[in-house]
Amino acid sequence: MYVLSRIWVSVLGLVGRVLRFPKPFSFVGPDASLSLVREIIGLGVKRVMVITDGQLVQLGIINPHIGLLKDAGIAVEVFSEIEPDPGYETVLEGVERIKDFKPDAVIAVGGGSSIDAAKAILLSHANDCHPSKLTGIWLYSWPRKRCLPFFAIPTTAGTGAEVTIAAVVSDKEAQIKHAIIDPKTVPAMVALDPRLMVGLPPFITAPTGMDALTHAVEAYISTLAMAETDELARMATASIMRNLLKAYADGQDLEARERMAVAASMAGLAFTRVGVGYVHAIAHQLGGLYHVPHGLANAIVMPYVLEFSKPNCTRRLAELARVSGVGGSGASDAELADGFIARIRKLNADMQIPESVKELRREDFDKIIDRVFAEAHGTYGVPRYLGRADATALLEKLLP
Ligand SMILES: NC(=O)c1ccc[n+]([C@@H]2O[C@H](COP(=O)([O-])OP(=O)(O)OC[C@H]3O[C@@H](n4cnc5c(N)ncnc54)[C@H](O)[C@@H]3O)[C@@H](O)[C@H]2O)c1
Ligand SMILES: [Fe+2]
Repeated sequence: MYVLSRIWVSVLGLVGRVLRFPKPFSFVGPDASLSLVREIIGLGVKRVMVITDGQLVQLGIINPHIGLLKDAGIAVEVFSEIEPDPGYETVLEGVERIKDFKPDAVIAVGGGSSIDAAKAILLSHANDCHPSKLTGIWLYSWPRKRCLPFFAIPTTAGTGAEVTIAAVVSDKEAQIKHAIIDPKTVPAMVALDPRLMVGLPPFITAPTGMDALTHAVEAYISTLAMAETDELARMATASIMRNLLKAYADGQDLEARERMAVAASMAGLAFTRVGVGYVHAIAHQLGGLYHVPHGLANAIVMPYVLEFSKPNCTRRLAELARVSGVGGSGASDAELADGFIARIRKLNADMQIPESVKELRREDFDKIIDRVFAEAHGTYGVPRYLGRADATALLEKLLP
């Protein structure tokens, strides 16, 4: 079953091994974002556009950065209309703002939504096209033009968008989330600054952290996994298992915040090479159809997908269990794999993440399954393929 899909995924995997993806230079630590801004000023830029969301403006998170830029005589324009899961309309609005203001550099400050919106705006602007023309893998499209110099400052520790070649944009009318996959979207430099994350409320810390864990786990159990991504995924998993609950329980814990930020970036570097899997494929549909926040959808779906996948990736899950400190030295791989999934369920429970999706409706199952298969098959290196009956049984478990 799914022979063609497996073959095509292997071809993509080979291409992924050969290609070199750009990696941004990262500033890390308290006030790293200010160091990044000083570096950008040192480049001699004259006009900077900051792309962010309204809530972050209200919280004053970007004030010190704007202050530094203005003190250096740089003209600054703030485009703060980014909504969670940004849509095509927002991207088009951003393109117009860029055309009007004519910046010579762009800084995205925010969660995955702001960073992805900035990526899509820049690529649409550079190539003078609607964002819908950019979705999918860049290899299948015409050679694209380079974007304006781009920098990113994540304020959540989750998506890893600051290092990935992806930008997720929503077609709100069709209720579908699409990914633009293009190395030209990778920022030149980023800052992982835990000080910007201390105000993240626990209900955002939890799902965004679980998004990062999902990236690490899906990259690790992928059939496309390679030594480089394995190392990153193992380190990210170990760190998230040690630090997520700490950051959730005490948002002011700078050390836990910094470790989560680094882990999320490492997980991003892993999955940007080898892709994700069914957890994301399902989560994207729950986001597109019901607006379930991305990390929350991943957190809820992950244990069910891992249970299903386990027969084909027991050893890999056992390895993640070991780096997470799950199970005793004499435990078998099967016991460790079970222990790892149980640990994820416990982490969810400890952070008040539910076991079901309250918005999910049985009458949408067919639509969801079609879209999950369209996204995952031929794209992701999933260890065990879902058939229609398996997918239906899995969605049944997610019903409230
Ligand atoms: N590009 C990629 O590789 C990639 C990977 C995974 C997910 N995504 C996409 O990223 C988006 C989700 O991003 P996200 O989970 O980071 O959330 P988000 O960017 O949508 O932000 C969620 C909320 O948190 C608030 N927030 C962010 N930082 C804050 C802070 N420091 N203090 C207080 N509030 C803060 C925002 O204002 C917003 O209301 C989804 O669209 C998802 O599909 C992209
Ligand atoms: Fe994700």
